[in-house]
Amino acid sequence: MKKEYWIRDVHIKPNLILAPMAGVTDSAFRKLIKRCGGVGLIVTEFISVEGLTRNNLKTHKMMFFEEEERPISIQFFGHNADRMAAAAEIAEAAGADIVDINCGCPAKKVVGSGGGSSLLRDLPKMENILRSVRKAIKIPLTLKYRIGWDENSINAIEVGKLAEGCGVEQLAIHGRTRAQGYSGFANWDIVSQVKEAVKIPIVGSGDVRTIEQALTRLRETGVDGVMIGRGAMANPWIFRQTYEAMQGLPIHQPSLEEKRVFLMDYFDVMLKEMPSEKGALGKVKQLCAQFTHGLPGGSAFRQQVFHSQSVVELTDKINNYFSAVELQLTA
Ligand SMILES: Cc1cc2nc3c(=O)[nH]c(=O)nc-3n(C[C@H](O)[C@H](O)[C@H](O)COP(=O)(O)O)c2cc1C
Repeated sequence: MKKEYWIRDVHIKPNLILAPMAGVTDSAFRKLIKRCGGVGLIVTEFISVEGLTRNNLKTHKMMFFEEEERPISIQFFGHNADRMAAAAEIAEAAGADIVDINCGCPAKKVVGSGGGSSLLRDLPKMENILRSVRKAIKIPLTLKYRIGWDENSINAIEVGKLAEGCGVEQLAIHGRTRAQGYSGFANWDIVSQVKEAVKIPIVGSGDVRTIEQALTRLRETGVDGVMIGRGAMANPWIFRQTYEAMQGLPIHQPSLEEKRVFLMDYFDVMLKEMPSEKGALGKVKQLCAQFTHGLPGGSAFRQQVFHSQSVVELTDKINNYFSAVELQLTA
């Protein structure tokens, strides 16, 4: 089983990657995840090339990252080859290690304007974009995509070969079709078939929620790396734990206090970085929803969190909940 790999001169060690998640993997979340350990590569949430190349301040802010996040890949979505290339140049100038192109987003807004997964139905356009971006930058270019538009048009191998021919240096494949959205299960057989068909590194994505699932995917599909998205919101230590398991080391079990501190640190950063208190509350509620799965009384806690109206109220709810669980577990 592989434990590391290279994208040209970028060392991905370990081969466990934080998946890009819009509205989730902002710089604050990425830093906290990275500090938990075991993350070999970080990808930003997707960034609109339309916004970036039209100097939208909010979009520019989304590209912000800190040194401790490296190696970092900046992901773009769009449909216009010139704007994609211009955005990639901006990312390179900002010091990104890698530029990633999104051909997987299923959202109507993105697909409707010809970007994201709709490029899976227009391969000449995808090729034009990839060639334009490749020409514009020197740093590695990677692609993240779904296995096809729908089950009748699965073209993951064709897309993989096309991208490789355009000079793309890694493929990350979410094993679902666009039509599936997030339903059903990711098809890792197809991910594995792409691995056999191309020479560049392949990263698989979809439904890796446990250490065992990560290890099984690495072992059985031959992929160079695995991406973890929702599983990292539920358990930010999953990368560290999986890496420890790979090396036969004892597996870190975060204490309740560590979990509480993670949540409160996130809350602190959100309050500092979000333009409004409401925005910060929304982000923390979103994380709480995933984070407390599997903890005693998690479902009731999520209801309380959902109805919290202020920072003080939500802080109290979080602290009270963790104290109650602590008492329950030590009683
Ligand atoms: C809330 C959310 C936002 C996402 N945003 C992006 C994105 O911006 N770019 C992207 O390529 N994939 C995005 N994805 C897809 C994930 O990167 C990943 O491929 C997918 O969730 C399957 O992996 P998982 O089961 O480990 O979450 C998003 C997924 C979720 C749940």
